[in-house]
Amino acid sequence: MALARTGAGRFRTACPQDTERLGELIAPALLDGDVLVLTGGLGVGKTHLTKGLARGLGDTHPVTSPTFALMAVHDAGRLPLFHFDLYRLEHAFELEDTGIYDVLGYEGACVLEWGEQFQDELTNEYLGVVIRRVEDDPEAREVALEAHGARAEELAAAVDAAVVAAA
Ligand SMILES: Nc1ncnc2c1ncn2[C@@H]1O[C@H](COP(=O)(O)OP(=O)(O)OP(=O)(O)O)[C@@H](O)[C@H]1O
Ligand SMILES: [Mg+2]
Repeated sequence: MALARTGAGRFRTACPQDTERLGELIAPALLDGDVLVLTGGLGVGKTHLTKGLARGLGDTHPVTSPTFALMAVHDAGRLPLFHFDLYRLEHAFELEDTGIYDVLGYEGACVLEWGEQFQDELTNEYLGVVIRRVEDDPEAREVALEAHGARAEELAAAVDAAVVAAA
């Protein structure tokens, strides 16, 4: 494993386990109301990062992509993790049925896959986690934290410090 910090809030993962490890390092910094928006395209590693979040919160149940259910809750850890995958959602009015408005920004931590397409209907305060593939290395990813709002800035700084401390 080789989770590396390449700059402030910027990381490089060398394999899927590293991306999970990054999720595990993010988890201790999470507070009720935190929102993470994971972006980066199909199969980039969003669900792997979420597996690490759940594990880092202390929930050891398996995490799969809630593609059909749209939402899965992992509530055996320090705080509940609400995992949304909005890939299959076509219209913003369908958001209501996912239950997202009942929890987003209030209860537990929310992690969204494919949330950016509905950004205007969701929240302005979130930590974006942008995952990119790396040319010439199919197992590597670049991950950048993009904070939106004061709490997200604080969270990004805590994550950065956690990665430095774990190195
Ligand atoms: N460094 C890496 N980090 C994460 N996944 C990686 C990495 N290298 C290769 N992979 C592979 O990429 C895939 C990532 O799958 P994952 O389900 O986490 O992606 P996703 O972004 O959630 O996809 P989707 O958009 O379909 O929900 C897995 O097959 C994994 O083995
Ligand atoms: Mg996924």
